[in-house]
Amino acid sequence: MPIDLRGKPIVITGASSGIGLATAFACAQAGMPVILAARRLDRLREAEATIINQGGKAVALVCDVAKDYDCTRLINESCARFGPIYAVFANAGFGFECGIEHSTPEQLREIFEVNFWGTVRLYHAALPVLRARGDGHLLACSSCLSKIAMPYFGAYSATKAAQDHISRAMRLELAGSGIYVSSVHPIRTRTEFFDETDRRSDPTGQNMRKRLAIMQPPERVADAVVACLRRPRGEVWTSTSMRTAMGLATIFPRTADRLLSLALKRRLMRRAEESRPAP
Ligand SMILES: NC(=O)c1ccc[n+]([C@@H]2O[C@H](COP(=O)([O-])OP(=O)(O)OC[C@H]3O[C@@H](n4cnc5c(N)ncnc54)[C@H](OP(=O)(O)O)[C@@H]3O)[C@@H](O)[C@H]2O)c1
Repeated sequence: MPIDLRGKPIVITGASSGIGLATAFACAQAGMPVILAARRLDRLREAEATIINQGGKAVALVCDVAKDYDCTRLINESCARFGPIYAVFANAGFGFECGIEHSTPEQLREIFEVNFWGTVRLYHAALPVLRARGDGHLLACSSCLSKIAMPYFGAYSATKAAQDHISRAMRLELAGSGIYVSSVHPIRTRTEFFDETDRRSDPTGQNMRKRLAIMQPPERVADAVVACLRRPRGEVWTSTSMRTAMGLATIFPRTADRLLSLALKRRLMRRAEESRPAP
């Protein structure tokens, strides 16, 4: 039997745009009271108004997941507003393109503070509530890149692998407690992620940062998250071919490295051609 989500509150970080925003709408549609969290309050308020106008329940709360206190306050205020929360979707995150050699300690610390520690902070703050309820669901927005190390996105891939690993360990640690833990592994998704990545990356870099025409809509991830809330499973993928490719890359790491290195060489050659002055 699928879980009836009606009336079960969910906290979503990174709900001011992209995957988090789409998931907030999908969860509200499923009858869940939604706590929308991020740093941009104006964006959150717009989403809150849309959900309420459509007959749902929502509240916008400012939270910087890089701050311990913000995450604790977020969970406390969420419970005060809608009663004990049932689920959290640790989705706030960003990426940047830079070789590890040239990434500064500040850049590396910041991406871990948001993508990895932001997830841990949220899980730690939410778990006592879920334990007291005797049920619940923790979800982290990892990535398909959690399974391979993408050159020039090494730091980002590392944070996604770390989210994947703690989710996997906790899934086993919490088995039988009534609390599910899932990791979500989107492929390229049409969101503000790439604008933010451009903003944070060296403009002359562009080694692997290629805009593809083919990107999935964020609603695809949102629907998969709601399906997982209804019928819990460990990993959420929205592309079977990418899941298979990542599985093969784990079994055959040398072949995967060769293919990635070839893709990188091609990209660098194309860039050199593009920047050559016209005759
Ligand atoms: N787009 C893709 O292709 C793709 C693929 C795989 C995985 N993902 C993952 O999906 C998640 C969502 O990204 P997206 O694609 O939806 O990108 P997005 O549109 O840029 O959304 C990122 C969200 O994270 C929030 N955020 C960033 N730093 C934060 C902080 N310190 N505290 C609180 N919120 C913060 C942003 O809100 P504020 O700026 O308002 O705080 C925004 O709502 C990320 O974890 C990303 O790694 C994305």
